[in-house]
Amino acid sequence: MEISVGEAAKRSGMAVSALHFYEKKGLIHSWRNQGNQRRYHRSVIRRLAVIKAAQEVGLSLDEIATSLQALPKHQAPTRKQWDTMAAQWQAQLQHKILQMQALQKDLGSCIGCGCLSLETCAIYNPQDVRAEKYTGQSSLTNPEDWNAEL
Ligand code: FES
Repeated sequence: MEISVGEAAKRSGMAVSALHFYEKKGLIHSWRNQGNQRRYHRSVIRRLAVIKAAQEVGLSLDEIATSLQALPKHQAPTRKQWDTMAAQWQAQLQHKILQMQALQKDLGSCIGCGCLSLETCAIYNPQDVRAEKYTGQSSLTNPEDWNAEL
């Protein structure tokens, strides 16, 4: 069964523009009927709910799009397909939980500080990402190198 973009928006509680955006990003898929109107498989409602939930727990649209690529575009995914996708998210969510816990821990030392030091502030430079990106001496000793590449 197919539904219009307006019905998909109404049933998902999202704006039509959001659906167009998600489609442009490859998260949902439509086809055109004979009147050149956009149509979705009704399973798009569940897919939109999954997208919304995934965003709320911190997954990026790129991460969500990558996971949804394994699902069929114009039919309802099987239970097994949903389960496989959910299993992939478990590791990503666990990683994000650990990141948030580390951020929560580091935040305490930053409150009232405000230095935003590249060398000591875990909030401004978490896990010393500049050092990871730039190996070698120039990464921490020549700030002009950082700006040129970032
Ligand atoms: S703001 Fe100073 S350590 Fe983070």
